[in-house]
Amino acid sequence: MSRSVGTVVRVDLDDIAARLAVPVEEVERVHRLAADRPSAPLPAVTDAPALLDRLGVPPDDAAEIIAGWPTPEITAGRPGPEAIAGWPGPEAIAGRPGPEASGWTPELRWLLDRSIALVRADLGGHGWLPPGPVLPRERGPAWRHLYAYAYLALVDVVLGYHRDHGVAEAASWATLADLGRNLAIDRRMRGEGWPVMQSWLTLHVRGGLYQLGRLQHHRGDGAVELHIPDAGPLTPEAVADSLDQGRAFFPRHFPDESYREFVCGSWLLDPQLAEYLPAESNIVRFQRRFELEPYQPPEGLDPDVEVLRFVFRTLSTPLDRLPRRTALQRAVVDHLAAGRHWHWRRGRFPL
Ligand SMILES: CC(C)(COP(=O)(O)OP(=O)(O)OC[C@H]1O[C@@H](n2cnc3c(N)ncnc32)[C@H](O)[C@@H]1OP(=O)(O)O)[C@@H](O)C(=O)NCCC(=O)NCCS
Repeated sequence: MSRSVGTVVRVDLDDIAARLAVPVEEVERVHRLAADRPSAPLPAVTDAPALLDRLGVPPDDAAEIIAGWPTPEITAGRPGPEAIAGWPGPEAIAGRPGPEASGWTPELRWLLDRSIALVRADLGGHGWLPPGPVLPRERGPAWRHLYAYAYLALVDVVLGYHRDHGVAEAASWATLADLGRNLAIDRRMRGEGWPVMQSWLTLHVRGGLYQLGRLQHHRGDGAVELHIPDAGPLTPEAVADSLDQGRAFFPRHFPDESYREFVCGSWLLDPQLAEYLPAESNIVRFQRRFELEPYQPPEGLDPDVEVLRFVFRTLSTPLDRLPRRTALQRAVVDHLAAGRHWHWRRGRFPL
C-alpha cells in the first residue's frame, strides 16, 4: 500500500515492512505516531567516541557503533517525487561507499528518522514506548544498533528537557549512561536482551526516568516507580540514600506533579525468595519496605523468564546447566526444578 505524505513524498509501507522483515502493522504504527513530526540529527562521528564513553558504552559496542555511524552522506537525501525525506539519492556520493554498502538501506534510514521523531514526539512522557519493530539484528551493525543510534540522536534533545527542569548535568549523564549498561547486558545475553531494552531506553531520552543514586526513579501517575539497575549490591544504606534523593528531586524539578508513594513491580518482591535467602540479605531487606498488592499474574510477562533474565542473563541455557554459585542462583534453579514458579509482585510504600 502506498501512502502520500505531504505532496512530494510517497511511502510504501508494505515495501518497507517486507524489506525490514517485520510486520506491516508495526511499520504503520511508526508512520502514524511519527507522522510529520521532527526528527533529530546524530552528533558528528568525531564526537562519537567521547559521547559513547560518557554513556558508559563498552569498547566492543562503541567500536561497532562508530564503524556503522550514519554519516551525513548517508543521512543527506535528495527528496524527489518518489523519495522519502532523508533517504539517500541513488547515486550516493562519488568515491565513497554507498549507504547500502555501510548497511544503511533506504528503509533502515527511514526507520531511524521516523523512530527518532516518534520518541521525540512524546518528550516528557513516561509510559513504556516501543520505538519501532524488533529488527533482525544479525543483518549487520546498522540493523543491530538502529535504536542505539536513535537514542544517541535524542541525547541533546533530552538534555535540553532536563535543563528546562533544572536537572543537574551529573544526574542527566548518570541517567543516560544506562545505555552502556544495557548494551553490555545484551552482549552478555548474545542479543536476547534487546527486545525489552529498546522500549525501556525510550524512558531515559524522554525525561521519564532518572537515576538518583542506586535506584532509577520513574515518573508516574501519583507514584514514583522504582527500578533496580544491575549495578552492585542493593545495600539498605544505598537504597535509603536514593529514596531521600527522590523525595527531594520531584518537588524541585517537577513541581506540577504530585507524588505520594513509591511503587515497584519486580521479581525481587516475590516473598517466595525469603524461603531461600537469609533474612539479612539485601533482597529480603528491600522487600520489607513494601506493602504488597494482592497477587495477580502479570499480563504479557512470564516471571520465570524474567528471573532467568536478571539472575543468569540467559534465556536459553537448560536449568541443569545454569551456574549454582550463589544462594540466589541455587534458589532459582531448585524452585523451578521442583515445578514451582516465580511471581512478579507489585508493592508500595508512602513517599
Ligand atoms: C538486585 C540485586 C542488586 C541484589 O543483589 P545483592 O545486593 O547482592 O542481593 P542479596 O544480598 O540479597 O543477595 C543474596 C544472595 O543472592 C546472590 N545474588 C543476588 N543477586 C544476584 C544475581 N542477580 N545473580 C546471581 N546471584 C545474585 C548474592 O550473591 C547472595 O548470594 P551469596 O550469599 O551466596 O553470595 C541483584 O540481584 C541485581 O543486580 N539484579 C539485577 C537487576 C534486577 O534484577 N533488577 C530488578 C528488575 S525488575
